[in-house]
Amino acid sequence: MLLNNKTVLVTGAGSGIGRAAALALAAEGASIVVSDVSVPGGEETADQIIHAGGKALFVQADVTRSDDVAALVKTTVEAFGRLDVAVNNAGVSGDMQGRLHEFDEAAFDHVIGVNLKGVWLCMKHELPVMMAQNSGVIVNMSSVSGLIGAPRIGAYSASKHGVIGLTRTAAAEYARFNIRVNALCPAFTDTPMVEPMDKERIIATNPMKRLGRPEEIAAGVVWLCSDASSFVNGQALAMDGGLTAI
Ligand SMILES: NC(=O)c1ccc[n+]([C@@H]2O[C@H](COP(=O)([O-])OP(=O)(O)OC[C@H]3O[C@@H](n4cnc5c(N)ncnc54)[C@H](O)[C@@H]3O)[C@@H](O)[C@H]2O)c1
Repeated sequence: MLLNNKTVLVTGAGSGIGRAAALALAAEGASIVVSDVSVPGGEETADQIIHAGGKALFVQADVTRSDDVAALVKTTVEAFGRLDVAVNNAGVSGDMQGRLHEFDEAAFDHVIGVNLKGVWLCMKHELPVMMAQNSGVIVNMSSVSGLIGAPRIGAYSASKHGVIGLTRTAAAEYARFNIRVNALCPAFTDTPMVEPMDKERIIATNPMKRLGRPEEIAAGVVWLCSDASSFVNGQALAMDGGLTAI
């Protein structure tokens, strides 16, 4: 197994890609700290891992709150003794769509707060533990909207571009501590996040003429978290059916 005896923290693990990643990482032998702001979602993911024979602990945390994130990392280390891998996946699409001049400030701040500041806060608290261990792996969840512009969801696109900036910077700053940091950039994937969207239109624009599946993105997370990608650092890996190739 690729992640035997590793302790892995996954944020936003109560739904969609985060849940699929938590299940896949557990199936590779990792002990999972399942975190989410949603208690029912997080508990359900932890239950699924335990019923499948894995190890999981649910810890509620809102990634926009520094105190929550600090407590999450502290609980992880108290429970499992270390933090080998962090998947900073929690994110929101935002309730508002519109051109940049139409966006209201609160909607913009909310998306940036969760998707960008949340990833920074997670790394802020995770990195000191990994530096003390002289080892660690971080995977930050960006998006194809972090690689190219995204009309009508400008705050989301800015937040996901920002995640790649944080990722590249962290990769350079912490490589000397044997810590790798990469970002994953999925195209539209079939999770609750895309439920309200026009799926037919989304599918039509993808070369593979379908949405991604959470399990496919989870396979990328597992690879980036494992020693199979041991010389991969500071990358923004698109998993997008070819969307950004054209
Ligand atoms: N689904 C897609 O098409 C797609 C594509 C590219 C990138 N992504 C990214 O993948 C990640 C997961 O998205 P998903 O599609 O699984 O969405 P989802 O809505 O199914 O899951 C997101 C999870 O994050 C949690 N969350 C939201 N705000 C939080 C906060 N402040 N603190 C802690 N947890 C919080 C939610 O409770 C939820 O469980 C997000 O970062 C998203 O931007 C998704």
